[in-house]
Amino acid sequence: MDSHRHNAPLGTIADAIVLSHVTKTFRGERGAEVTAIRDVSLAIPAGQFVAIVGESGSGKSTLMHCAAGLTTPTTGYVALAGTNLSALSSAKRSRFRSQHVGFIFQDYNLVSSLTVSQNIELPSRITPRLQLTADTATVLSSVGLAHRAQHLPHELSGGEQQRVAIARVLAAQPTVVFADEPTSALDLGNSELILGHLRQLASRGSTVVMVTHDIDAAIRADRAVVMAHAGTVDDIWRPGRDQLISRVMSAQQMRQSAR
Ligand SMILES: Nc1ncnc2c1ncn2[C@@H]1O[C@H](COP(=O)(O)OP(=O)(O)OP(=O)(O)O)[C@@H](O)[C@H]1O
Ligand SMILES: [Mg+2]
Repeated sequence: MDSHRHNAPLGTIADAIVLSHVTKTFRGERGAEVTAIRDVSLAIPAGQFVAIVGESGSGKSTLMHCAAGLTTPTTGYVALAGTNLSALSSAKRSRFRSQHVGFIFQDYNLVSSLTVSQNIELPSRITPRLQLTADTATVLSSVGLAHRAQHLPHELSGGEQQRVAIARVLAAQPTVVFADEPTSALDLGNSELILGHLRQLASRGSTVVMVTHDIDAAIRADRAVVMAHAGTVDDIWRPGRDQLISRVMSAQQMRQSAR
């Protein structure tokens, strides 16, 4: 067992992601402080597919960035796959991420100077020990992009670029996958395709965390965590559509009445 686990105040050895009392405060250039998440604790078991939902500005992306080790919490503790991220230097944290974490992010998905194929092969080039579980042609064809292997990212539409990012995760099958709005640039058919892939990743043992405003995407997850005013306010197992809409709406109303 990893020694860092002994300090874990929350979660069990089967948890792929543990956040304990995590607060993240940003200080703006003019000195104003914003607390994006406050005292959040969350444990996600290995192989679970979790959706994080909630109104704009509620802290979803910040929570995901802290969980992925892209942002250091102001206070609190984050463990990924049994490793305490706070105990790692920034260089070690970035090596850990390249070995264990896959990202499907809308803004900075792909390296612009590399072709679609090279982008998919990138994780295994950066981390030679990382074995790709499927070949590039197979994963590209599974997201409907077999014919675009030699193109550069700027030659693809936004939704196509997003599907390349998903193909890269499918090829590497990382321990943990973080997806921020993975269906936002996709039509209905491609959304279904991608949600099916995320589900399959989870059934093969990856832990999948998806931030989304898309309720129809969120109800495909095993569990939905609802966020409002910088905290988690609800945690629903196998959410139904109407149930989730009403919980998200009531979280939003709670905030409006508190203003
Ligand atoms: N680098 C930053 N500096 C200052 N404030 C920030 C920074 N990043 C986020 N925030 C603030 O923290 C709060 C939460 O932001 P976050 O991006 O986590 O929200 P979100 O739930 O992902 O929203 P959306 O659904 O719009 O993407 C917001 O009020 C935002 O303005
Ligand atoms: Mg966001």
